[in-house]
Amino acid sequence: MEILPAKELPFALVLLMVAAVLYRYVQYSKGPMIDHIPILGKELGGVDKRKSEYAKNGLSMLKTGYQQYSRGVVRIDTADGPRILLGPELLEEVKSKPDSVVDNRGPIRESISAKYTALPETDAIMLHNIKAELTPKLGALNEKLSKEVDYAVKVELPEAKDWTPVKGYAKLLRIVAMASTRIFLDSDLAHNEEWLETSIGYTVSVANGSRMIKQWRPWLRPFVYRFLPEIRKLHETRATAIRLLKPIIQERRESEGKEGYEKPNDFLQWMMDARIKKHLRDKDYYYQAELQLVLSFAAIHTTTNAVTNMLYDLGTMPDVVDMIRQEVKEELEKTNGVWDGKLMKSLKKTDSFMKESQRHNPIGYTLFTRRILKPFTLSDGTYLPAGANVTSNSHMISHDSDFVGDNPWEFDALRYYKKSLASDGPAKEAAGKHQFVSLSMGSQMFGYGRHACPGRFFAGNEIKLILVKILMSYDIKLENTTERYKNFSWEGSNMPDVSKNILIKRLQT
Ligand code: HEM
Repeated sequence: MEILPAKELPFALVLLMVAAVLYRYVQYSKGPMIDHIPILGKELGGVDKRKSEYAKNGLSMLKTGYQQYSRGVVRIDTADGPRILLGPELLEEVKSKPDSVVDNRGPIRESISAKYTALPETDAIMLHNIKAELTPKLGALNEKLSKEVDYAVKVELPEAKDWTPVKGYAKLLRIVAMASTRIFLDSDLAHNEEWLETSIGYTVSVANGSRMIKQWRPWLRPFVYRFLPEIRKLHETRATAIRLLKPIIQERRESEGKEGYEKPNDFLQWMMDARIKKHLRDKDYYYQAELQLVLSFAAIHTTTNAVTNMLYDLGTMPDVVDMIRQEVKEELEKTNGVWDGKLMKSLKKTDSFMKESQRHNPIGYTLFTRRILKPFTLSDGTYLPAGANVTSNSHMISHDSDFVGDNPWEFDALRYYKKSLASDGPAKEAAGKHQFVSLSMGSQMFGYGRHACPGRFFAGNEIKLILVKILMSYDIKLENTTERYKNFSWEGSNMPDVSKNILIKRLQT
């Protein structure tokens, strides 16, 4: 029986397509009702003007928001839709809600268009292994990490007998990628050009793919993304990662059980073992490759941003450079020159400088963003409907003297070192909570709450090693200026200016 006459088929297909597009349009047009929350920049006119102002002058809008509504809530329009900014007390309330009520993944996945760039979900086994394998083993892994940093600094930075310009960010990216690969997959891949290019380039490819897809109206995106070259490039990157990882996994599996074979102590092995324990497919090359790419995404550019910012800061702070060198010399004498986990912990002034640098130069100005899954009402009476996105005004909170102490906009390299020496009262109780990796209301540079960055302990060690090894080998300064290079900010993100040179000159020994 003929359901539809053949000549009417094209017409029916067009109708179906129109219906699909309309369905998408309606789906994307409706958002959660948050009109009861005051909006920042109302005087600017429409939503598009507010979005554009936030993109260009995000920090100044966030400042206004904090000054006018620091203890309450206010709405801000961003390219990823409206965000409800929370003051410190209300932030504590949201932070304490369970994952079934408040979700940390939705907003970040949306901001990088994960649906189209196909960035995999943060995997529960991976999160567990960062917390239960990587972090506790950091002390034991430190000498290996230190050796890799030595190698990477040696091959990446020039001899520099006289002042020599180097593209700091690009060089540091490679140093960070080698050091991270040594711990994530302890193999020749740490020095394999194709892998380094893949792991460094993946973040850029995701960002490019996301940027291109966002140029289309949300309801058109499901139709066009397949045709974008930037998205196709991501598939190629994945294929390369699988090709490079597969032989390593195969070799490890074949060697297991053979006499004298010692399992590598790296992230790949922990993941392989964890999957077997959970009765999952252990030879899932696609899964392991994606996971390594997600690790690279989380670890490489974030860490490089931090070290670059620190070197840009130090380029105008020779006294702090001397202080760090002095501390390293004194502490290295105590460990007989061994770069172990104990040494890392003893570098307290260096740690304080790192934290102060990160406080001034976080990777973004709102680093705790969550989506409301089940509606609830805050203690000030504000109703948060399901689907609304809330965020912390974290950069402003970390510049509020109530949370960081005197002169919050000044750079005080020893701010946290001095706090750690407090000898009485509540300050003494908090004295151990001022490390680079410690989280607090005034320190949200790694996020806040149960989903704060689990990789911060590894990042802290890696950054400290890279920074100190460079300072113990080279003098540094900025090019043609006595002022710190300005950072680049867009859409509330904050990056060092990657086009700048750092001048380096080898220290006379
Ligand atoms: C300086 C370097 C780094 C910075 C500034 C940074 C920053 C952040 C921030 C702001 C978050 C969101 C936290 C929140 O929403 O509360 C986060 C999450 C995360 N980071 Fe990092 N990160 C860094 C390095 C790393 C490294 C080295 C790894 C892996 C070894 C890593 C793995 C992760 C993961 C897996 C999450 C998601 C956590 C979850 O979903 O529960 N990060 N990071």
